[in-house]
Amino acid sequence: MQGLVVLLVCLAVGTAFAGTVGVSNADPFEREGRIVGGVDTTIRAHPYQVSLQTKSGSHFCGGSLINEDTVVTAAHCLVGRKISKVFVRLGSTLYNEGGVVVAVRELAYNEDYSSKTMEYDVGILKLAEKVQETEDIRYIELATETPPTGTTAVVTGWGSKCYFWCMTLPKTLQEVSVDIVDWKTCASDEYKYGEIIYDSMVCAYEKNKDACQGDSGGPLAVGNTLVGIVSWGYACASHLLPGVYSDVAVLRKWILNATETL
Ligand SMILES: *[C@@H]1O[C@H](CO)[C@@H](O)[C@H](O)[C@H]1NC(C)=O
Repeated sequence: MQGLVVLLVCLAVGTAFAGTVGVSNADPFEREGRIVGGVDTTIRAHPYQVSLQTKSGSHFCGGSLINEDTVVTAAHCLVGRKISKVFVRLGSTLYNEGGVVVAVRELAYNEDYSSKTMEYDVGILKLAEKVQETEDIRYIELATETPPTGTTAVVTGWGSKCYFWCMTLPKTLQEVSVDIVDWKTCASDEYKYGEIIYDSMVCAYEKNKDACQGDSGGPLAVGNTLVGIVSWGYACASHLLPGVYSDVAVLRKWILNATETL
C-alpha cells in the first residue's frame, strides 16, 4: 500500500524540502523513489525492467528480471500484498500496454527489512510461468561488488515525473544517469543524511541537479549488472540528498537463496 500511494506523491524541490525536514525524524513514507527530469527510453535499452501492477493494471512498483521466473524488487513494494493480486508486465516500453503480463506464484521479502530504517529493502517474486528472453525481455546479472563511488549507473522506471502531487504517471519508461556514492561516503558529512544510511544501502546522485531518482523496486544498473534497487530518498535536485538504493552486492546471498528455494 505504501508503495502505491507514494508513487503518486512527489516531494518538494530539493533544497527547500531539505531545509524544512529533520532528515532522521522524517517518516519513511516521505522517502520514496521516483524519477523527475528523466528522459524517455525504451524497454529494448533496459529489457530487464518490469512493472509490478494490480489486476486492473495500475503500476505500483518497478522490478528487475534476473532469470526465467524471478523478479527482484524492494521489500516495501511487497509488504501487505497478496500473491493473487500482483501481476508483472515484461517487455513493454509502456507500462499500461504491450509485452506480456504474468501472474505471480510466490513472493518473499527479507526477514530483516525494516520500514523504519529501510534496511534490507529487498524482495523477490516468482512468476507463475517461465519467460524466455527476447529482444525486449532479458535477465540481468546480480552485482558481486558494489561499484566504487563515481561509477555511472542508470536508473529507470515509470515513477512520477513531477514535483508535488501529480496524479498521472508517465506511460513511457524513463531513464536517468546517476553517479554511485558508497554508503560510507553517503553517510559522511559530505551529505545530509548522516547515520540513517546503513551498509545494506548504496546511494547515487544526479550529475545534473534537476532530476530525482526512479521508481521504487526498480533497477539501478551498470551495463547488464543490477547494482541497486530503488528504495528511498528525500527530495530532488540536491547533491546533498542522493537517492538511496538497496545494495545488490550486499543482498546477493539473500536474493540467490530466495530465488532457489521459493
Ligand atoms: C533461504 O530461503 C528460505 C525460503 O525463503 C528460508 O526459509 C531460509 O531461511 C533461507 N536461508 C537463508 C540462509 O537465508
